[in-house]
Amino acid sequence: MTQPRSVALLITGKSTMEGAGVRLNRIFGHPEVPRFDPFLLLDDFGSDNPDDYIAGFPWHPHRGIETVTYMLSGEVEHGDSLGNEGVIGTGDVQWMTAGSGIIHQEMPRRVDGGLRGFQLWANLPAASKMMEPCYRDVSADTIPEVSPHDGLKIKVIAGEIVGVRGPVQDVVVEPEYLDITLEPGADVEHPTPPGHTVFAYAVTGRGKVGHNGTHELSRGQLALFTEGDSVLFRASDVPFRFLLVSGKPLGEPVAWSGPIVMNTREELATAFREYQDGTFFK
Ligand code: FE2
Repeated sequence: MTQPRSVALLITGKSTMEGAGVRLNRIFGHPEVPRFDPFLLLDDFGSDNPDDYIAGFPWHPHRGIETVTYMLSGEVEHGDSLGNEGVIGTGDVQWMTAGSGIIHQEMPRRVDGGLRGFQLWANLPAASKMMEPCYRDVSADTIPEVSPHDGLKIKVIAGEIVGVRGPVQDVVVEPEYLDITLEPGADVEHPTPPGHTVFAYAVTGRGKVGHNGTHELSRGQLALFTEGDSVLFRASDVPFRFLLVSGKPLGEPVAWSGPIVMNTREELATAFREYQDGTFFK
C-alpha cells in the first residue's frame, strides 16, 4: 500500500533584486535552510520588460554547490573564466557543478515575447565540495518527453519515467527534475523515493496537490511535501504545468555566504580569501 505525501508547506516567492539589478522571484533560499536539504535556493526569473533582466549576473564566483538553470523562453549567455561559453536557449538546461570553484557570468539577452527561466541550487556533500568543476549542457531536443497516460506529459530532465531516463545522470544527491503538464481534470500519482525531499513549483495554471487534494497550487506557488512514497496532482479547469523536484538530503552543516556554500565558517573564510588573492582555482 502506498502512502501519498501531504503538503508540509505552501509558499509564494518574494520579489528580490539580484546580480547587477535583475528583478526575480525568490521562492526559497537562505532563511529556509535546512528544510529543502539538499536544495538551497529556487529563483523564478523573467519578465516581458527587458529592464527587469538585461543587467544580468556579471562575473561572480561559486564554490560548493551545483546550479541548475532551465529556460522556458528566452536566452541567457553564459561564460566562465576557464574560457567556456555558450547560450542557454528556450527549453535548454545547464547543470553546472561549481565544485572547488568557477567564476562566471550569466547574461540574459533582450528578447521579444518575454524571458522566463528558473535557477535551482543543489548543495554538494562535504566529500564533493572541492571536486573538479563540470558542466552538463542539455539542449532542449535531448530532453525526452513521455506521456504515460492521456492528459499527462512529462519532460524528464533528471530521473526516470516509464523506463525513460533524463539526460542529467550521476549527480550525488540522486535528483529528479521533471517538467509536468496536466490537461484540465487530468491527474497523476508519481512515486517518490522514501526519505527524499520533494517539492513542486507551479509554472502556469493551477491544480490540487497532496494527499486527498487538500491544497490548491497556482502559478508562482511552491508545495513542499511530507514523507511518503508518492505525490498526487490533479489539474483544475485549466492546464497545470509544474516542476517536480526531489533529492536525497545531505544532513550536513551549511555555511553559506552569497554564491559560496561550504560546511564551516572557516571553509567560507578560506574561499573568500582565495577569491581575493587570486588562488581560488584548484
Ligand atoms: Fe552564478
